[in-house]
Amino acid sequence: MRLVTASLLSADFGKLKEEIEMLNQSDNDWIHVDVMDGKFVPNISFGQPVIKSIKKYAKQPLDVHLMIEEPDRYFEDFKKCGADIISVHYEACRHLHRSLSAIKDLGMKASVALNPHTPVMLVKDVLSLCDMVLIMSVNPGFGGQKFIENTYSKVKELKQMIDEQGLQTLIEVDGGVNTDNSHLLYDLGADALVAGSAVFSSPDPMKTISLLKK
Ligand code: DX5
Ligand code: ZN
Repeated sequence: MRLVTASLLSADFGKLKEEIEMLNQSDNDWIHVDVMDGKFVPNISFGQPVIKSIKKYAKQPLDVHLMIEEPDRYFEDFKKCGADIISVHYEACRHLHRSLSAIKDLGMKASVALNPHTPVMLVKDVLSLCDMVLIMSVNPGFGGQKFIENTYSKVKELKQMIDEQGLQTLIEVDGGVNTDNSHLLYDLGADALVAGSAVFSSPDPMKTISLLKK
């Protein structure tokens, strides 16, 4: 699969509605929504009221990336706000199996996000519960950072693990993705690429979205 999930973190929040309408018209597949609590990551982004507004205009599924501690406290809230996919961080979940099950029980797709220092092998025993695994290719917290090259081997290793277990789990890559690295990432087995600054700093965001996939 070759999906693009544009990250609104790099959008102009003063004209969020227009930015979403642009995505609706484009080849973009999902809308990536980065929630940060200032604790799990140093930065604070936005929460439920903003997501509710995003949902009002979005025609594509909301791919919600929770960079927060104790994410389980908010699954129901995010469901109500319109989340379709929820990623929780491996590093933020003491009982990951329970967290993934809770997301699925609410009728959403469940995903685990791995920080750059976290080996993919650590998800082996919950992989069958994961609709997706998100590999962070930068340290989470900020848009516009440089892609960490070690990500390529992590994608390859994860893809192999998924195939060995005979699963359909999707692989998402987030951070520093652009038109120079997108093709190799898809070729190695990535299914969904998050793109923030590559899309919203582009003079032609719609064209960039198409180029990321082609
Ligand atoms: C970073 C966020 C990303 C961010 C990516 O912590 O998880 O989704 O928006 O931004 P770029 O594509 O600019 O690296
Ligand atoms: Zn993200």
